[in-house]
Amino acid sequence: MTDRYAVFGNPISHSKSPLIHAEFARQTGQELVYEAIEAPMDDFRGAVLAFRDAGGRGANVTVPFKEQAYLLAGERSERADAAGAVNTLTFADGEIWGDNTDGAGLVNDLLNNLDFDPAGQRILLLGAGGAARGVGLPLMEREPAELFVANRTAYKARELSARFDCYGGGFEALEGRRFDLVINATAASLAGDLPPLPEDIFMRGALAYDMMYGRDTPFLAFARAHGARTADGLGMLVEQAAEAFAIWRGVRPQTAPVIAMLRNA
Ligand SMILES: NC(=O)c1ccc[n+]([C@@H]2O[C@H](COP(=O)([O-])OP(=O)(O)OC[C@H]3O[C@@H](n4cnc5c(N)ncnc54)[C@H](OP(=O)(O)O)[C@@H]3O)[C@@H](O)[C@H]2O)c1
Repeated sequence: MTDRYAVFGNPISHSKSPLIHAEFARQTGQELVYEAIEAPMDDFRGAVLAFRDAGGRGANVTVPFKEQAYLLAGERSERADAAGAVNTLTFADGEIWGDNTDGAGLVNDLLNNLDFDPAGQRILLLGAGGAARGVGLPLMEREPAELFVANRTAYKARELSARFDCYGGGFEALEGRRFDLVINATAASLAGDLPPLPEDIFMRGALAYDMMYGRDTPFLAFARAHGARTADGLGMLVEQAAEAFAIWRGVRPQTAPVIAMLRNA
């Protein structure tokens, strides 16, 4: 029987993951199928267990189920524990193993596709939701000079920064601070909003990274207007998928051709 994988979310019809994993499988000669499954809002657990019991080998998990996936996993990686969220499940020998590949996806996108090494850099992480939680530990492991977490609801930024052993606060705490890398992990771009950033937030040559992809955002426009280099989250999406593929199949696919394919689509 062909190995089965799936991404679970709600909604899920927009997901590019089936396309990405089909391309990885073609590229590496792996035989598998990967589908998108909309789990009911009130029964994520039931949907995943039914998939596993029908022979599923692994699953990705997206909004709004990453915290539930964390609870479903019997064992978890250190980076999943640090995030309190799981986006990659592996089913083997009756066990459910949970991992979080979002942070590795971001770091690999920075290193491999954007020529930006976080080591020794001053980094600002905007947001304290699921996306921000997933990237804190992998960023800290690169030993930046500084990681500062800023969020609209300040106490959440302080909570998260305590978890990552860095600094954090509300947006007003950004006054007078400047950064080499500013990562927008808020959902502001989804609503066409711009987090309230000081005009002089970017160091010379800084990179502005919006985790959202698929359209230009007020954050990226603000960054361009203030001389920063910009990147969207498409590379992170493909890199986190590659990390999951490597966990499941033991082979690492090439990401650059897949990113290019999605950009041209
Ligand atoms: N490229 C990728 O692979 C990838 C992976 C994961 C996520 N993402 C993207 O990352 C973004 C965040 O996702 P998420 O799952 O972390 O969402 P989430 O858990 O709902 O978190 C939302 C965060 O955004 C903040 N926020 C919402 N509206 C805002 C506004 N108008 N101004 C300032 N802050 C605002 C919230 O602040 P409060 O705490 O004050 O409410 C919170 O910190 C989305 O655009 C998502 O598409 C991309």
